[in-house]
Amino acid sequence: MNLIVFLAGAVRSILATGALLLTLARFHPALPLVILATAVPQALLSFRMQNDAFELLVWKTPEARRMRYYSSVMLTDAYAKEVRIGDLSRLFLDLYKSTFDRLFAATKGLRFRQLRASAGVAALGVAGTAVAFGWVLLGIVAGEVTAGGLMLFVQALLLTQQNVGQIVENSAMLYGTLLYMEKLMDFLDARPLIADTGRLPVPDGLPGEIQFQGVSFAYPGGREVLHNVTFTLRPGEVVALVGENGAGKTTIVKLLARFYDPTAGAILVGGRDLREYDLASWRRSLAVVFQDFARFQLSARLNIGVGALEHADDLDRIRRAAEQGGADEVIARLPQQYETLLGKHFEGGVDLSGGEWQKIALSRAFLKDAANVVLDEPTAALDPRSEYEIYQRFAELVKGKTVLLISHRLSAVRMADRILVLDRGRIVEEGSHEELMRAGGLYAQMYRMQAERYADQPVTAERAP
Ligand SMILES: Nc1ncnc2c1ncn2[C@@H]1O[C@H](COP(=O)(O)OP(=O)(O)OP(=O)(O)O)[C@@H](O)[C@H]1O
Ligand SMILES: [Mg+2]
Repeated sequence: MNLIVFLAGAVRSILATGALLLTLARFHPALPLVILATAVPQALLSFRMQNDAFELLVWKTPEARRMRYYSSVMLTDAYAKEVRIGDLSRLFLDLYKSTFDRLFAATKGLRFRQLRASAGVAALGVAGTAVAFGWVLLGIVAGEVTAGGLMLFVQALLLTQQNVGQIVENSAMLYGTLLYMEKLMDFLDARPLIADTGRLPVPDGLPGEIQFQGVSFAYPGGREVLHNVTFTLRPGEVVALVGENGAGKTTIVKLLARFYDPTAGAILVGGRDLREYDLASWRRSLAVVFQDFARFQLSARLNIGVGALEHADDLDRIRRAAEQGGADEVIARLPQQYETLLGKHFEGGVDLSGGEWQKIALSRAFLKDAANVVLDEPTAALDPRSEYEIYQRFAELVKGKTVLLISHRLSAVRMADRILVLDRGRIVEEGSHEELMRAGGLYAQMYRMQAERYADQPVTAERAP
């Protein structure tokens, strides 16, 4: 819109100015030149100002984002405890203020430079007008200009200056708009991380084996975090993935969900490259409990319902999912049960404990009833009894589904059909619990370390679920 408005404005003013300059030339042939000469610095300055304003905007955008972050830390419940216990409000206030001061100083500097330059240009304009009037006065004194002529002159001069001003303003605004357009075009040209071009629908039921074939992956701009990873999830199988912090387990989940594509190798589903499948239909076939699951400031019903929006109004289904995820008891205690608003962002909201939230997140995955289930540390916050109950029923809960279970709790991992051990981005061991214990490698070492910690306790690792 701006492009059209400013371009049309500039063209209109140029036509009007042309006609007016012809009128003024009748008084003295040099008059149009004087007026145009005074307009040049005005034009240069306007373009400079547009440029400076644009550069300031580009520079201050990340700074402004920083300020928003600092203020959100002081205003968001998720940070409140640590901000208060560490008395961090001073720190964040100071960070906010110093960023603000930098922004303010830069803006103020620009405005003062603009003011000084504008004053200079205005003085030049006044001088030009004075010269023009001087000419005409001389003409009157010499009896060459009549009263009517003077009227015409004054009108023409004022209109010319007005129109020249508009030419300058419109073309400067046009220039400014083009600067923004360039950024917009850059943004529109940005390539998505993954191509959403696959059209193959994912068949209902189990879509066959999921195979990682020589998959390597580096986050954009980062080092490689998965190296030549190869493994297979067979339909209906429960496979556990274990490994130390930063080994790349969650990264494998993100590749499975196609938030990213592998940088080398391929993920095959039913023998076809995952990229050939329709993305939405693939994601519908996949239920994921993320390690850092979301806590929606919505009703308990919707908090589970977001797992499969088509069932969000089916309270029977939601109840069943809540039972499976262990959230039913939690919700039964809430003041309005399933219609209770969760979270503290809005009035009347009720907050849950960490483990209670995790039960909601688990129930969300069960609502989806997807063929493939990925659980990334699904019980990390659950108490021993809740965790025990979940894993007791686990086989029944995931019956007929392909499951990838990530857990540091190796007692829970034991019941998987197969265990994959990931070490710094490489699969280093694969087998059943017994096989891996016999092999005496990384898994056996991790398992013994955890079991040892329990050995002092009344309950031994062997008896834990
Ligand atoms: N969004 C990201 N951008 C860049 N690097 C990342 C990103 N997420 C993770 N990484 C890096 O990738 C590596 C693997 O991370 P990942 O989250 O897969 O580990 P993990 O095995 O799930 O660990 P944990 O047991 O702590 O959950 C880490 O070294 C991390 O620094
Ligand atoms: Mg992880």
